[in-house]
Amino acid sequence: MNKLLVSAVAVGALVGVVVACNGNDGAVGAAGPGGANGAGTAGGNGTNGTNGVNGTNGEAGVQVIISALAKHGLEISPVTLNLAGLTGEQLEQVGQGSYLVNAVADCGTCHNSAGPPPLKFLGGGTQFPLGGTNYVTSRNLTPDAATGLKLTEAQFIEVFRTGKDFAITDGGADQALMVMPWEAFRWMSTADIKAIYAYLKVIPALTTTGIADAKPSAAPAPVPFTAQFTDGEKTRTLPPEVDGQGTPIPDPGNVLRGLAVDAVDNAKEILNLTPGEVGQYGRGAYLVNALADCSGCHTNPERAGGKVNFAQFMTGGRVFPTPPPLQPVLKTTRVMSANLLGPNGFFAGANLPIFLATITQGVHADDPPPQAPLGWPMPSRVFRNMVLSDLEAVYTYLHQVQGVPGRVDKVINPTAIYCASNADCNATVGPTCDTTNHECVSKTPCGSDSDCPVCQVCAGAGTKSCSLPTATLLAGCIAAGL
Ligand code: HEC
Ligand code: HEC
Repeated sequence: MNKLLVSAVAVGALVGVVVACNGNDGAVGAAGPGGANGAGTAGGNGTNGTNGVNGTNGEAGVQVIISALAKHGLEISPVTLNLAGLTGEQLEQVGQGSYLVNAVADCGTCHNSAGPPPLKFLGGGTQFPLGGTNYVTSRNLTPDAATGLKLTEAQFIEVFRTGKDFAITDGGADQALMVMPWEAFRWMSTADIKAIYAYLKVIPALTTTGIADAKPSAAPAPVPFTAQFTDGEKTRTLPPEVDGQGTPIPDPGNVLRGLAVDAVDNAKEILNLTPGEVGQYGRGAYLVNALADCSGCHTNPERAGGKVNFAQFMTGGRVFPTPPPLQPVLKTTRVMSANLLGPNGFFAGANLPIFLATITQGVHADDPPPQAPLGWPMPSRVFRNMVLSDLEAVYTYLHQVQGVPGRVDKVINPTAIYCASNADCNATVGPTCDTTNHECVSKTPCGSDSDCPVCQVCAGAGTKSCSLPTATLLAGCIAAGL
């Protein structure tokens, strides 16, 4: 048994917390001091909400009990929520949804509107090129009547389950969304999808015009949902969510669901674990595979033969060009996702404290100081909002599935560095600034491309050095990765 596993299993142990509301119309108070980082311990109560109109459905001063997780979810919402008139049950659902959106399933990186502050939370409008003249644009998920999310709850569930693009209204065949990571999200529990929907209904409405797609004519079709996990090394039946009478069957922390939607055949991984550790493993598997979509960025190629590419599961190698407006800020031009689970991957060496420091501080905590910040788009600023028990669960899961025999390994290229002048460059990243492309070049000597900043080419007569790729090579490198 692994000594690094944490024994305290807080998974699903949701401590009831009292949130004081002045009648059901009162807004929930501002964030109280976070108790988030104490596993299972509740944070201090938020300060009382601003006085609500006297509750129509409740008396002034009524106490609404919501779970610690939901309360934390409400606290980490980056926008003020319209909670007027919500019942305790609805408040619980919104809090759970906010937790999923703002701590685990990072919707914001794709769905926040680009541009200067203030944050246009989930306003959509970010364009994703699909090659050639094709592109799709992230949709406005806010409740704006004209330009926002218009799907019913049932349609929203269908989007998550099957990928169906409800914006295709020309009577043609159904098409699937192409950038939206529904292939991971489809394994969420129905309750979690509904919670996200409930949260999206109470965020501030934003008007975003001009959202349009130019999909290829042969866009993929939606995939029917069968309650069978068919995506991984082993096919499994999902645990039923309701019984024959339609009564919900509880699965605290979605542990059983996590064990079912695990991309790897987990028979060996959980064999020697205590029941408590299996609970953590299952919770971690759920968070990683159905919500956080770590594999979407850390597996390259992401899928193989219509399944998760488990032979290269989270061995890194996807290339992420830093969006030009962010380059001078982040000081990077291109980043390759890290090898997490290969024989030389992060989890082969990192213990729990290093993992926690990596996520909560957003730095390469496994490197000697000074530790560079994690490159874009690693969503550590979202994941750091997870409660400690969930971060521990993610660690337990990834630590256990590290080291599967036969999994390929990859040597990840160093990050390509943005520069304005030679002063921004050094021998490690290349001493010379290519001021046209704003990238440090000429690292010398190099033995092969893998010594060079990502997508640069190791070439030259005699002593070789790293140079910028041609436009064609660069496009190929970004598309293929490692
Ligand atoms: C990797 C980027 C990305 C992430 C992460 C992402 N989305 Fe999307 N989403 C998109 C894009 C782009 C579209 C529309 C075009 C497409 O994918 O074909 C879309 C479409 C949607 C739609 C369809 C809307 C409609 O009106 O038909 C919904 C609903 C949605 N996203 C919700 C979410 C939620 C909720 C999350 C977080 C849990 C999320 N998305 C995370 C990129 C993303
Ligand atoms: C949107 C893409 C994306 C998602 C989703 C994502 N990552 Fe990352 N991650 C990256 C990139 C890119 C890097 C490399 C950053 C760098 O080298 O500076 C990275 C780096 C890391 C590192 C640092 C490794 C090291 O060697 O220091 C860890 C640990 C990590 N990710 C874990 C995770 C986990 C766990 C998840 C899911 C809970 C996840 N990532 C989800 C893109 C992503």
